Amino acid sequence: MQRKRKLGRGVAIVGAGMSKFGMFRDRDTKDLFLEAFNEAMASVDKGMDPNDIDAIYFGNFSNDFFVHQAHWGPIISDLIGNVPKASTRTEGACASGALALREGVFAIASGFYDIVLAGGAEQLSKLPTEKVTEGLALATSPYEGKAGFTFPGVFGATASAYFKKYGANREHLMNVTIKSHNNAPLNPKAQFPQSISDVMKDKVQRAIDKGKPVPVWKDEREFLRDPLVNPVVAWPMHLFDCSPISDGGSCVIMVAEELARNFTDAPLHVIGLGQGSGSGLHAKEDLASFEATKYAAREAYELSGLRPDDVQVCEVHDCFSIAEIVHLEDLGFFAPGQGYKAVEEGLTQRDGPKPINTSGGLKCKGHPIGATGTAQIYEIWKQLRGEAGERQVPIDSLRIGAAHNLGGTGGTCTFTILERRG
Ligand code: COA
Repeated sequence: MQRKRKLGRGVAIVGAGMSKFGMFRDRDTKDLFLEAFNEAMASVDKGMDPNDIDAIYFGNFSNDFFVHQAHWGPIISDLIGNVPKASTRTEGACASGALALREGVFAIASGFYDIVLAGGAEQLSKLPTEKVTEGLALATSPYEGKAGFTFPGVFGATASAYFKKYGANREHLMNVTIKSHNNAPLNPKAQFPQSISDVMKDKVQRAIDKGKPVPVWKDEREFLRDPLVNPVVAWPMHLFDCSPISDGGSCVIMVAEELARNFTDAPLHVIGLGQGSGSGLHAKEDLASFEATKYAAREAYELSGLRPDDVQVCEVHDCFSIAEIVHLEDLGFFAPGQGYKAVEEGLTQRDGPKPINTSGGLKCKGHPIGATGTAQIYEIWKQLRGEAGERQVPIDSLRIGAAHNLGGTGGTCTFTILERRG
């Protein structure tokens, strides 16, 4: 593939950390980010002095709304003892964390900084669901917002369009949900570390404990078809098609490529980087695709010289089950209209040829907006270094991984490709 763009100098990731994701009454943004930061520092194999961090890029969508505190760059700098060095907040809705990573890459590639911390955090769960929905809807386009769209509504429309165009149906979405829930119990940081079978057993036990009628479901699909346990949120998006309301933090430590071996013998090189933007529903000819993702993917493939088939493991932005299917196609992993079939055939399972969302995805790992971008990178860091424990993908010579982060209703999309060398 012909390369149009290049980085001024190479950039490598030498550390990564992530807090536990979940809904925490007693923990705030700072606690969660600090947990991620401490893990990231400890993960640098040969050690790093935190005073050597030149600058911070911190992704956060809307703590102004969710916790009534803005201006998070210096707060994070103060938290980790990096004042008076530069600290910048990045905002790209659900892609805010990936933008932090991207800005960090450019800062190092330009030669200005050698060592950068990039990450993000968000804290949603202290507000009631209606308020969270209102806050998240600030990331819709003005047209969508005025028309009353919320995120489940936008992705409900995406699913309806996809079904009509390609003949898929709700049963196909269940394959995504079941897969995510099968991966999550292998991820100790996941918000919902339960398979659907575990959820079913839990509900049966709770009914027994409360002396209520005990529900009976033949299998996972029958459970997912039951409107009492899996109600409609915005047709055809049901509860188990949605990512949850989450709190969490994550980050990575990046250095100039020539310095990487001072810190670890197993750095991950940033070899592909892409970002695109989109206009929103009013301008879309095809609701079953995100132009910004296609653009970001093209840019990242060009920079890396790789093709979709070269990506061995990938985290994609499954804010809703339909989103995972559409992204599989927009990233070029499967042809248009083939994504749902690929999932049905098990191709995207952890032990399949194209493992997707081994972390449990946003659906089960959780989706604390600003933290999601670098949490996806954290999963790829774990996988490419062979440190993913029970959820390690069974691929010999695992070398190339990628992460796709989508903000708003496709307004900001990024795609990042990482390579482990040596
Ligand atoms: N998947 C599966 N179960 C979920 C869930 C999810 N996403 N979210 C909550 N639950 C479960 C809870 O564990 C709880 O189970 P229990 O009754 O067995 O204890 C039950 O559903 C009710 O939880 P609650 O927190 O009251 O749910 P809610 O109705 O307030 O919120 C959603 C559910 C789907 C509306 C909410 O999670 C949501 O808005 N998600 C989308 C977030 C979003 O748009 N993010 C941005 C994407 S771009």
